[in-house]
This record gives sequence, structure tokens and C-alpha cells, in this order.
Amino acid sequence: MEGLIARAVSKTYRSQRGPVRALDNVDMTIAKGRLFGFLGRNGAGKTTFIKIATALLRPTSGSIQLFGIDVVDRPREIREQIALIPQEAKPFYQLTPREHVEEYLRVRGLSAETAKSRADEVLAAMGLETYQSVPAMVLSGGLQQRTLVAMILATEAPFLFLDEPTLGMDPFARRQVWEVVRRAARKGSTVLLTTHYLDEAEQLSEELAVIEGGHVLYQGVAEALKSKVRREVRLQFSGGFTAQELARYGDVYPDRAGLTLLTTRSAVEELTQRALERRVPVNVGPVTLEEAFLTLVGRAIEDEDAETPA
Ligand SMILES: Nc1ncnc2c1ncn2[C@@H]1O[C@H](COP(=O)(O)OP(=O)(O)OP(=O)(O)O)[C@@H](O)[C@H]1O
Ligand SMILES: [Mg+2]
Repeated sequence: MEGLIARAVSKTYRSQRGPVRALDNVDMTIAKGRLFGFLGRNGAGKTTFIKIATALLRPTSGSIQLFGIDVVDRPREIREQIALIPQEAKPFYQLTPREHVEEYLRVRGLSAETAKSRADEVLAAMGLETYQSVPAMVLSGGLQQRTLVAMILATEAPFLFLDEPTLGMDPFARRQVWEVVRRAARKGSTVLLTTHYLDEAEQLSEELAVIEGGHVLYQGVAEALKSKVRREVRLQFSGGFTAQELARYGDVYPDRAGLTLLTTRSAVEELTQRALERRVPVNVGPVTLEEAFLTLVGRAIEDEDAETPA
């Protein structure tokens, strides 16, 4: 059985400035137990999709099933299966991190003993032990966010929705979150996670989708996205080549030392050969997910602009 199946999901918001089509025929399938990254620019439609999948918002048309349960028809059953960190949520100011975790698990019907042992575990894993008895209002922003992540991940809910879980966290805290999220997936939870940190998406996602303007541009593994956009290799030249000359091989950007070219594997031999002939050093490395994302979404924006009459 699939974890999530979305079929032709569309959402049009009615706003004062007219209708806003936030999702346009979104099809998406997430296998049960998968750690799934959901990427897209600001306003692409990620949070809207998550709200619909978690029964907080009705789609204008289309359907979503979680574990075979229809989200629109059976929202109450869905709520038992999921836990959600909404985007930019805030903790309850008077409650401590430990109270957040324990009280929330109690509300969800777990015993006091289970709540306590899960809290012990997750507070340690998230580096919150020292702060476990401090009211949230005096915690720093990043520690407040960690409290929310701890609270949601401690549920071990079958489906976890994490909308920018690491927002505002330092690099150490982010890595702690990654570890806890990975552990949740190993224990069997299906995870849908949004992030604007593409290194994080690359570290965490077993599979990912890229959405732009309410359309899914890509669903698959990160490596295949790089092949799809035909940008798999980064060549860095410090002198010896002009941007014009390199442009026919791919995308060229000026960088600190000279020029960066994102290109296909097939161009590497020819270009390194030429660099050797010209006696200039060239650096060869893999393209990052961020570079592939910029290429894919950048092309979609260009197509959009081309279709829109000026
Ligand atoms: N309540 C609302 N009323 C009207 N329009 C809305 C509403 N909520 C979102 N939108 C619009 O829907 C589109 C998608 O927004 P959404 O919040 O889903 O984007 P997002 O991908 O989560 O962006 P971000 O990365 O900034 O969180 C945007 O154009 C946004 O302005
Ligand atoms: Mg959002």
C-alpha cells in the first residue's frame, strides 16, 4: 500500500485580489516508509499541499489518500495517522520542552510512562536536555523550533509532515534533526519534509518532488534529477577560457576564481583536454542538488515568461 497518493489535486484560493491558483493538477505518490523531500520556491504551493494532505484545507478538486484513507471524506481517521509541524509554528510560551513532549503525547492517548520515556529519548537526541525545564518563552528561536520538532517526532506517528522543520537552526542542531528524522523513517514512519536548504534535502531525501507555480516539475531521486536537467558535472576554470566559449556546453557562472560550468558527463573529456593544452588548471566535481534545482526551476520560469505576453 502507498503512503500517500495525490491525484489531480488543485486548489484555488479566493482572495481580495482575485483567485489564486496555488495547486494545479498535482499528482504525487509517496511509498509507505519513505523519507520524501518536497522542494520549491517561496509560493510554489508546498504548504498548501501539506494543509490539504493533513485535512486542514479542502482541495478545490482532486483527491488525496493516506494509507488508503481518503483525506477529504475521513479527516478524523487521518488525524490519528499523522503529526504535523506547521510552517513557522510557535510553542506554548509557558510550557517547557519536556511538558510540550509529554503533554502532547498524553493528549494523543499514550500512557504517562510511554510519554516520559519517549520524552527522555527525544530531548536527549535533540540536544534539549539542559533546557528541558525552561519555559519556552525564554528559549532562543532555534531552541523553540527544536522543541516543536521533538514534540512531533516523539509521536512516532505513521505519517510525519515537517514543513521547514530546521528553520533558523544552527548547523549542529540541523544535523541532530536529520538523525532523529532518519530514525523515525527507520522505525517505519513515512515522512514528507519541506526545506529551502538543498544540502539538507540532499542529505535526507530518499526521493523528492520539485513544485513550481502549483505544478510538479519532477518526482524521483536526486541523482536522476541531475541527469534529467543534463547538468551532472561542475567544471571550474581559473582562466584560459571565456564565458562565451563555454556557454555552448551548459550553464556558465562567474565565480571567485574564474568561471564555473555546469555540464554533462560527455563534455568533460573534451574540456579537460583543452584545459591541459592551454596549461590552465581545471577542477572537476559533481553538481549539487541546489544547482540542479536552480536549473530545473529556472527553465520553468523562463518558459512561463515566454508564454506570458508582455
Ligand atoms: N490563505 C490564502 N489566501 C490566498 N492565497 C494564499 C493563501 N495561502 C497561500 N496563498 C497563495 O498560494 C500560493 C502558494 O502558497 P504556499 O504557502 O502553499 O507556498 P509555499 O510553497 O509553502 O511557499 P514558502 O516556501 O514561502 O513557504 C502563493 O501564491 C500564496 O500567496
Ligand atoms: Mg510554505
